[in-house]
Amino acid sequence: MTSPDTKHAAALPSTLLRATIAGEHTSIEQLAVARAMVEGTIERETYLTLLQHMLALHTVVESDVLPALPESIASPSMARVPALLRDLAALGGARKPMDAGSVDRIARFGSSLATETPLALLGVIYVLEGSRMGSMVLYEPLARALSIQPSPGAGLDYHMEGMGETPLRFRALKAQIDAALEDTGDATSAASVAGRTMALLHELYSSISRTMSNESTETAQAA
Ligand code: HEM
Repeated sequence: MTSPDTKHAAALPSTLLRATIAGEHTSIEQLAVARAMVEGTIERETYLTLLQHMLALHTVVESDVLPALPESIASPSMARVPALLRDLAALGGARKPMDAGSVDRIARFGSSLATETPLALLGVIYVLEGSRMGSMVLYEPLARALSIQPSPGAGLDYHMEGMGETPLRFRALKAQIDAALEDTGDATSAASVAGRTMALLHELYSSISRTMSNESTETAQAA
């Protein structure tokens, strides 16, 4: 992961956040599951597994992060569990239970947030709201891969809900983060929390990617 260097020390907090996650973002984009989404080749079963992981993560965020955020920044649109549940139902639900390693990682991530300040928790929100920028690129190839229409209720609400407002809303969120964190000692903690959030997502994406390679190896061996 790119670590914040001294040249970012005096930069805006949102610039520090972006620099902190940049390396991990590039690395996630290179994982098999991310590439399969971008290329429109992801299998429904694999995508359902990914949604299940996102549901577990957002459930923690909704119980432990959103209620603790500064009131002026928290927004109902940050709650993503309803969209994830709709998508899972529309796509036929998850068939395989999540692996114990991922369950444990998400639980440990949740516990690690308990000692963070409300301002440091903005690091989680920065990553999850920022990932909506990626959703703008992903929803079309995903619709192709899943053979569904990119329309509300078809199974892509997690990516598409509020998508028209994403760039403006994310820019506004970064301005709010800058205003809230500037001149406080919390920017470094928020960057550390953002880094941990991204590292967790990298681990989850990696574990799903490993399943994909196992499955292709098994298929190749069976042929
Ligand atoms: C799966 C493949 C992914 C693709 C293709 C993708 C693509 C993109 C694109 C096109 C942008 C906007 C351009 C930019 O600012 O560089 C972006 C921004 C961002 N993505 Fe991703 N992304 C992916 C995965 C993720 C994941 C898993 C996360 C974390 C949950 C994430 C978090 C972010 C963040 C925080 C930003 C905003 C950076 C900033 O401008 O401050 N992305 N992504």
